[in-house]
Amino acid sequence: MIGRVKYIIVLILISSVAFAQNNMKGTYREQYRPQIHFSPPAHWMNDPNGLVYYKGTYHLFYQYYPKGTVWGPMHWGHATSTDLIHWKNKPIALYPDSIGLIFSGSAVVDYNNTSGFGKNGQPPLVAIFTHHNQAKEKDGKNDTENESLAYSNDEGKTWKKYAGNPVLKNPGISDFRDPNVMWYAPEKKWIMSLATKDRITFYSSKDLKSWTKESQFGEHFGAHGGVWECPDLFPLTAADGKKTWVLLVNINPGGPQGGSATQYFTGNFDGDKFTADRTGTRWLDEGTDEYAGVTWHNTGNRHLFLGWMSNWMYATTVPTKAWRSAMTIPRELKLTKVDTNYFVAAEPVKELDGLKGQSVSLKENVKVKGEIDLTGPTKILKRAGGQYELDLSTDNLKSFSMILANSVGEKLLIGYNSKENSWFIDRTQAGESGFNKDFAKRITVPRKVASKNSDLKLIIDAASVELFADKGLTVMTSIFFSKRPYDKIKISSVDTLVVNKINYAPLKAIWN
Ligand code: FRU
Repeated sequence: MIGRVKYIIVLILISSVAFAQNNMKGTYREQYRPQIHFSPPAHWMNDPNGLVYYKGTYHLFYQYYPKGTVWGPMHWGHATSTDLIHWKNKPIALYPDSIGLIFSGSAVVDYNNTSGFGKNGQPPLVAIFTHHNQAKEKDGKNDTENESLAYSNDEGKTWKKYAGNPVLKNPGISDFRDPNVMWYAPEKKWIMSLATKDRITFYSSKDLKSWTKESQFGEHFGAHGGVWECPDLFPLTAADGKKTWVLLVNINPGGPQGGSATQYFTGNFDGDKFTADRTGTRWLDEGTDEYAGVTWHNTGNRHLFLGWMSNWMYATTVPTKAWRSAMTIPRELKLTKVDTNYFVAAEPVKELDGLKGQSVSLKENVKVKGEIDLTGPTKILKRAGGQYELDLSTDNLKSFSMILANSVGEKLLIGYNSKENSWFIDRTQAGESGFNKDFAKRITVPRKVASKNSDLKLIIDAASVELFADKGLTVMTSIFFSKRPYDKIKISSVDTLVVNKINYAPLKAIWN
């Protein structure tokens, strides 16, 4: 009898392991699941955190709530990559503790062991993050946010919190968070950019543990429709040798399409103080769905940017079940001159090309008048998954629409309007939108240049499009929830658009 019970128990165990494995197979195969973007295996994610490159590995930490699919007590989730495209999920790096939840922040390689956290002659990785105390917040206190440290002596695998936390105490303001730290070599010191309500406050330190306030920036600069969050300060050099400092400042709400967005300033940083060269607002991504974007540390002259691909307006209600949110495709930032102005342009990292299957020319040297079906003759889209890249170039830019459609009548329109000289994305008929009244909309963004020649790159995944126009001078990210992949492509123009080429490249899924 006992033998039989044992046998049954073993059978149950085997079948439940098999069930779990089958379920694992289902992971990253769900409806709306991004196939070429990072998303957590399950549960809630927001901002990218602690982006740092070390010994051939790109680390991505992220705001993570491992017990639900809406925002909750924050941890730092962790994933790594050697090419910025394929990701390995790792154990949670930082858990909430008695000081608070683990909010956004950055990570650095402390090469000179200024912190003393190094071991056996190896530099430590040091994470600098906000401890957010929810109990104090509930009590209506202002000093809920303080800055703290954690370090790793095993290349980011495991992390210890510093016993002397917090290292930077709140002076009594409710928004005091998202420290982003960089090494300022000329003065051998660390600089922290901290989001402090409606401005950025800069602090300096010789050892990452004791911080001195240096200056503030932003009260009368840029957009102020919401609170400033997640800053990032770094130098950029243009092709003509012009050097500038760039300060990224995320803001929520108050973005150009409502809700959250990433603005930036260019100017000078002298080691203590940031001086902007203009007062106006510029946006790194003018779509609806890029937020909390910051760059990787320790990548030399490459400035690699990653944003959260959502918007606080509806992030917690989008119709995904097992997980919520994804990151953008990592992007390389460049300083680009237009007339006498310098803009920060962004394009997908070249590593994305590694996912390309055989690319197909859909059209070359044609005049588009009326609507042309680009799918029919080639049937390529029938064979590919729902993720692909489209590249269009023209010497005579005129109003046009690319129509991405599926078999159930949903469509996403992307194109250009010559009257306004603007790019647009129209997701009014793109799929499910009932979860938020402002989701179904058409957005337009003025072009930065007036030239007749132009280029457009679209990266399409199961639930997102990223548009890069005019060599990344205009970037727009938009998510959507179509029932089926967009496997029909059409282009339409009333004004005769001269197309040099339209290229299609399928992109291999990264989660196999
Ligand atoms: C930005 C943000 C940060 C904060 C974190 C909390 O999306 O609000 O300012 O640190 O998310 O999850």
